[in-house]
Amino acid sequence: MPFYHKLGKIPHKRHTVFRKPDGGLYYEQLFGTIGFDGMSSNLYHEHRPTQVKEIKGSYDVRPKLAVENNLKSYRFKGFQITPHPDYLESRKPVLTNSDCDIILASPQQSTEDYFYKNADSDELIFIHKGTGKLRTHLGNLDFKYGDYLLIPRGTIYKMDFDEEDNRLFIVESRRPIYTPKRYRNWFGQLLEHSPFCERDLRQPYELETNDERGDFLIKIKKQGKIFDMVYATHPFDVVGYDGYNYPYAFSIHDFEPITGRIHQPPPVHQTFETDAFVVCSFCPRKYDYHPDAIPAPYSHSNIDSDEVLYYVDGDFMSRNDIEAGHISLHPAGIPHGPHPGAVERSIGQVETEELAVMVDTFKPLMLTEDAMEIADESYHKSWLEEEDKE
Ligand SMILES: [Fe+2]
Repeated sequence: MPFYHKLGKIPHKRHTVFRKPDGGLYYEQLFGTIGFDGMSSNLYHEHRPTQVKEIKGSYDVRPKLAVENNLKSYRFKGFQITPHPDYLESRKPVLTNSDCDIILASPQQSTEDYFYKNADSDELIFIHKGTGKLRTHLGNLDFKYGDYLLIPRGTIYKMDFDEEDNRLFIVESRRPIYTPKRYRNWFGQLLEHSPFCERDLRQPYELETNDERGDFLIKIKKQGKIFDMVYATHPFDVVGYDGYNYPYAFSIHDFEPITGRIHQPPPVHQTFETDAFVVCSFCPRKYDYHPDAIPAPYSHSNIDSDEVLYYVDGDFMSRNDIEAGHISLHPAGIPHGPHPGAVERSIGQVETEELAVMVDTFKPLMLTEDAMEIADESYHKSWLEEEDKE
């Protein structure tokens, strides 16, 4: 997060004596990424955050690969992923490479008896269905339909859901996720031509401070395994912190689309960036206003990235037979574009209600066993004219 946040109580100077009411010390922790060069926050704990009591074991959660080398366009029916009561068990990676995992999840219950920490990856959770609260050791964030939750690696968290019917689209990124550099000035502030600004980014507002001792299970994801670590102190024991490294929320409904007289390319929809992929938000907007404009996109062959579109809501003008919760995968190496009739249909249209999240990865994606269970194996032929179909 490229701007400063302070929550709870902190001492006047960092790395100085900070006493509790009973005269004991609060314990400081620098919580950062990219060694000492990236974003960091200074946290003050009731207890030392290092008190591991027991390591109960570990289990493998690496995606099970079904297709490693792919050159076929796919459609996946995301809502066919089976719901599961447990948050972590519900997460099904469908597409993966060495930089990221793209995950669908339909958790039915809040995380009650453990805390979770991803030590490998930043997590970007898009809330397609459901409301609730993301609770973290750095404060809490309410979430609802349309929210992106950006959770930096190392954040200890729980998800509280209000109801059972939840649908999440999640990207785990081995590289830190930032707002696009071209929208930030030399000081890091979002510029006037950015489609969103700091006011749209919601910071943690509610710090839970718990000084209990006991047995506290944190499930820690590290190198594709979950380690069950038992700590002797409550993981939410921070009394205050300040800095730049903390989870935040951004609603896709607060993204202000950039439009033009003729078709604007996908980068105008960019919302987040990493070294390894970009995330774009396609939001309801006015179409191109040149009198002869074709609002539908032209076919394009982006040879350098696999394109994943997650369809959220509205009408998907360039596609036939696409519904909310579907994912399309258009791999690098072959062109893709509007379905038959979509270009003609788009001429004269003045606006769209489409809502979608796009992830373009620079390395090819592999397909998992979970993906193949919800895959449409005929999608790659969906661009054929009627007379060419068998
Ligand atoms: Fe595309």
